[in-house]
Amino acid sequence: MLVSPHDILLPAFQTGKLVGAFNTGNLEMTLGIIRAAEQLGTPILLQIAEKRLPHSPLHLMAPMMVAAAQQASVPVAVQLDHGECPGIIDQAAQAGFTGLMFDGSHLPLDENIAHTQAVRERYPALWLEGEVGVLGGSEGGPEAEALHTCPAQAERYAAESGCDCLAVSIGNAHGLYNGEPKLNFAVLEEIRRRLPNMPLILHGGTGIPARDLQRAATLGICKVNIATASFAALRRAAAAAEGDYFAMSEAMVQAVCDSTLAVLEAL
Ligand code: 13P
Repeated sequence: MLVSPHDILLPAFQTGKLVGAFNTGNLEMTLGIIRAAEQLGTPILLQIAEKRLPHSPLHLMAPMMVAAAQQASVPVAVQLDHGECPGIIDQAAQAGFTGLMFDGSHLPLDENIAHTQAVRERYPALWLEGEVGVLGGSEGGPEAEALHTCPAQAERYAAESGCDCLAVSIGNAHGLYNGEPKLNFAVLEEIRRRLPNMPLILHGGTGIPARDLQRAATLGICKVNIATASFAALRRAAAAAEGDYFAMSEAMVQAVCDSTLAVLEAL
């Protein structure tokens, strides 16, 4: 069942629960993610990041993702992840995505706010995620160089941008962590204190221990983004596959399903 992120994230936020948001890049990943959600009867978000689109074109991915959500036995919201280009955001909205992320986190705050407002005005009915602060990993440099979200900037962004939820940088990073991630809960607490009604989002979910995720949920985090774990599971399954194409395809689907189950069971 295709739903808005609003329908999944607000109840989670209000009850201190976490929702998994899983990024896909192809058919097998999409099938594996949905299979896991259906097995557990858990609502999820299915996402694709703008940076994947050169390899996984949106005009092909979007109809598949929307159809997979429509036919799923659980609520599935379909969202563009880290959208920057207005043309891509338009394409996602027109394809039936129910959520958009505008990522202006690398811009000066005023520009980030202005660009987010423009997306808000163009798509008033779609769920809109914004971001303040720069993550480590592929968004910035190494974890150490990431820029933690400034709580005062987050407060201004939330008041002016028109976003429905806000991704924060508190030591989380895209990709693999060197050892255990060190989340800065003091920053998260201060963001939460200033924005008690704003659903907060944690990117870079791969490798964050369950206890940290649970603690983050008590401080307003209601969605955790996962990409690296699923892509790694797919790659390992493809590399190890024996037999014909159909066996390889099923191995990839099941590997992503198993990886997704492991994440969902920890939330
Ligand atoms: P990981 O690749 O670290 O799981 O992060 C995913 C993410 O945040 C996508 O927006």
